[in-house]
Amino acid sequence: MAARLHPAPWRPPEIVDLRRFTARDLDPLLQEETQSWRDSLDWDFEKSADLVRRFVDLRALHGAALVEDGEVAGYLYYVLEENKGLIGDLYVRLDLRTPERENRLLESALASIMANASIGRIESQLMMLAFVPGRTLPSDDCLSTYERNFMRVDLRRASFAPGNVRRAMYLEKWSDHYQDAAAQLIAASYAGHIDSRINDQYRSAAGARRFLYNIVQYPGCGAFFRPASFAAFEAVSGRMCGISLTSLVAPECGHITQICVSPAVRGTGIGHELLRQSLTALRDMGCRSASLTVTAANEDAVTLYERVGFYTAQRFSAYVWEGF
Ligand SMILES: CC(C)(COP(=O)(O)OP(=O)(O)OC[C@H]1O[C@@H](n2cnc3c(N)ncnc32)[C@H](O)[C@@H]1OP(=O)(O)O)[C@@H](O)C(=O)NCCC(=O)NCCS
Repeated sequence: MAARLHPAPWRPPEIVDLRRFTARDLDPLLQEETQSWRDSLDWDFEKSADLVRRFVDLRALHGAALVEDGEVAGYLYYVLEENKGLIGDLYVRLDLRTPERENRLLESALASIMANASIGRIESQLMMLAFVPGRTLPSDDCLSTYERNFMRVDLRRASFAPGNVRRAMYLEKWSDHYQDAAAQLIAASYAGHIDSRINDQYRSAAGARRFLYNIVQYPGCGAFFRPASFAAFEAVSGRMCGISLTSLVAPECGHITQICVSPAVRGTGIGHELLRQSLTALRDMGCRSASLTVTAANEDAVTLYERVGFYTAQRFSAYVWEGF
């Protein structure tokens, strides 16, 4: 091959508004990201990638792309909800992934979001961000960081023996008319809990309602899976006292999207029973594995998950910027 006499001049990496791209421009990056989710998390990212393609083509997605040597090396998108910005995804190509490149994307998004006077809080949980404990991030004077575990269990190996439930209760399959009671339960279960510092939807029944709507309607946490989702009720009062909700993140991989038990009946075996029923149902319906995410400091939950056979497959961080 003849040597190029005049090599293309090197151009510094550029941050470009996402609305200047089409889905086609982003496609190689989204394909690589889809493969990465499959390889590292057993997670089919295709539906989420399709949603990104659709909104990029509509020029309706806020965010930025990192362009290097004329190619898209990484991207980030965010959404604005009432008073909050939510960074939905950040992905930099594996061969170029460095904290500096990721930070350039974050800097640009944070600057745009923070310029919006009605926004007082920015949340993100980015599974594909390089996990480097103690890494520095932009605007760290108003940043809180929470370590999270992505945990997985092999459903073909684990045995889900019944525990000792020390409270009279019964379980029902999930039904959409439980949404209001479940929203109340979530708000009560997470009052003063570390997870309500990470996700402010947990702080009120109205927020929890939006959370439930999102996990049922959108593919971010996988496709909601009713047959393995349960609600627990106290036998005497009939009051809802726990839920375990699931999704399918790949054809044979289930995910626990939410599990909580009301403070009044905690420690009586209901959480274990809900989890056991969901995992058994997922296995009976052909899933070979199940996963969930949990805040590392949430020891009660981590202990429960480890007891039924979950192990930490990946660590990541949740970030919250507030008070800027
Ligand atoms: C995590 C959670 C769902 C567990 O539900 P639970 O009904 O309390 O769980 P269980 O009673 O089945 O607990 C499992 C074991 O831990 C023990 N345990 C649980 N919480 C305990 C506590 N606060 N103190 C002492 N022991 C406790 C139980 O005794 C039980 O052991 P045993 O069955 O051998 O007796 C519940 O604590 C909860 O709702 N927490 C807030 C929301 C949350 O963190 N959800 C998980 C997000 S990933």
